[in-house]
Amino acid sequence: MTKFVDLTPTLGTEILDLDLADDLDDATAATLQRLLGLRGLLVFRDQAKLTPERHVEISRRFGGLEVHVQKRYHHQAHPEILIVSNVVENGAPIGLADAGKYWHSDLSYLAEPSLGSLLHAQELPTDGSGDTLFADTRASYDALDAATKRRLVGLSAEHSYVARNNAQAAVNPDRRIDESTAAKVPPVLHPVVRAHPLTKRPALFVNEGFTTRIVDLPDAESRALLDRLFAHSIEPRFLYRHQWRAHDLVFWDNRSTMHLATGCPANERRTLFRTTVRGDRPIAYVPAAAEIAA
Ligand code: OGA
Ligand code: MN
Repeated sequence: MTKFVDLTPTLGTEILDLDLADDLDDATAATLQRLLGLRGLLVFRDQAKLTPERHVEISRRFGGLEVHVQKRYHHQAHPEILIVSNVVENGAPIGLADAGKYWHSDLSYLAEPSLGSLLHAQELPTDGSGDTLFADTRASYDALDAATKRRLVGLSAEHSYVARNNAQAAVNPDRRIDESTAAKVPPVLHPVVRAHPLTKRPALFVNEGFTTRIVDLPDAESRALLDRLFAHSIEPRFLYRHQWRAHDLVFWDNRSTMHLATGCPANERRTLFRTTVRGDRPIAYVPAAAEIAA
């Protein structure tokens, strides 16, 4: 594995000479883990030979795998695979149709949110639509002014799957969940700025999709601060737009990026398989005094 191309100055690296269907030795796996931490996103092209079984196996090299709370979207043979798809068969969608049409970090609503996700393209729209946008939440934190960084020190925010799902279910009844499913994903609190476990670099960890409020702030203040952080973190300078090619596999770091599905027209077919690697409880980032000096 020697051919790398950086996608933006801070975010994303394309790896041109690795077939994930072949054996992955420990040294290469360790390099990939480090690269993911440094670059936030890895793109592997032409992964045509990668079977669902091998996708699961490769993903396990980076940690335990999550099984999505909504069973109906699981791959039948491999529950660790979440099917992301707008395809309807026999009147029922074969996967999660509206996955991520809002900015989010996968599973930020868990007490131990995901480390990263591996998304493998199966069938793509023929009209070139269906891009996924990624935002570098380290770069957006770094770019904040010192006064805002001071304000964020010690703040925590609430993340809720149920709040998001209820909003989606209002427009897509297929997403309704029962109380026992909802009870598995109670709201959780996370630091607003987290330190990456490998690089120790700070990253903003609030997202439009799952973050409902900043705790210990009055509602209006919490709303205003979140809206400002959301708007700031998706400025074009922090983004990478992934245009999917046949058999791409994209591995992103949920600790230092957010993403958004731009979607495709209903008459196009788009199906991808996702595995989601388990992560640790986020650790709050504490800036050095000089970093936030007035
Ligand atoms: C996901 C996701 C985006 C897309 O699979 O986690 O957000 O463009 N997908 O399908
Ligand atoms: Mn997602």
